[in-house]
Amino acid sequence: MRRALVAANWKMHGSKALVDELVDRLVAGLGQGLNAVDIAICPPAPYLQQVQELARGSELLLGAQNVHGENSGAFTGEVSAAMLADFDVRFVLVGHSERRNLFAEDDLLVARKFAAVSGQGQIPVLCVGESLQEREAGQAETVVQEQLEAVLAHCGVGAFADAVIAYEPVWAIGTGRTASPEQAQAMHASIRGILAQHDKELAEKTRIVYGGSVKADNAAQLFAQADIDGGLIGGASLDATAFIQICNSVS
Ligand code: 13P
Repeated sequence: MRRALVAANWKMHGSKALVDELVDRLVAGLGQGLNAVDIAICPPAPYLQQVQELARGSELLLGAQNVHGENSGAFTGEVSAAMLADFDVRFVLVGHSERRNLFAEDDLLVARKFAAVSGQGQIPVLCVGESLQEREAGQAETVVQEQLEAVLAHCGVGAFADAVIAYEPVWAIGTGRTASPEQAQAMHASIRGILAQHDKELAEKTRIVYGGSVKADNAAQLFAQADIDGGLIGGASLDATAFIQICNSVS
């Protein structure tokens, strides 16, 4: 039985005032009933400590949106996994499509980040997903397979023991156009199948979450699919009421 995960990716949104209000409301609204689901908040890096302090004593877990592949060094502007560990960060997104597309992160860089996160004992959340053009060309599964195999080749299947995979079709991110439960389930099953070729037991245990326009009114249907183990939530996670409803949609 895989434990569900619902993670909030706030992206580059927020302010001290908004973080205060949002986390207070989440702590109040998610105080109970978290037994079946891990809930993580990935704020922009400057607010990690603020979220850590506000969430202390609650079951909310902390996540980060990005990381550098080295633990320290002359990398102006970057943040290492070791630094994130100082703030009790448990989950770190790697390979989000916005990082791949807007910041030119390639598979090797993503794999290095993945390794750095595992190396700190944190949980990498490897984001994979195809563009609309790739889906329409019938290449969705191949593209996702390549993204996954690149990290498997660099890090080894053992590094996935505790990892999470987030399937986020690029065409569904921030567009209001969600993958249908059937489309998402098919890709999740395909991802699990790829993992199973490397390690059957591990594939059964690996959490695969869906991201891309998950809202309060479509979460339950998505999360009810056999291979969908929760969600990675962008826009709707900035609305406490909607995010709480999404968390409560895990059956
Ligand atoms: P939206 O939920 O806003 O579509 O964003 C999804 C996402 O990119 C989460 O990482």
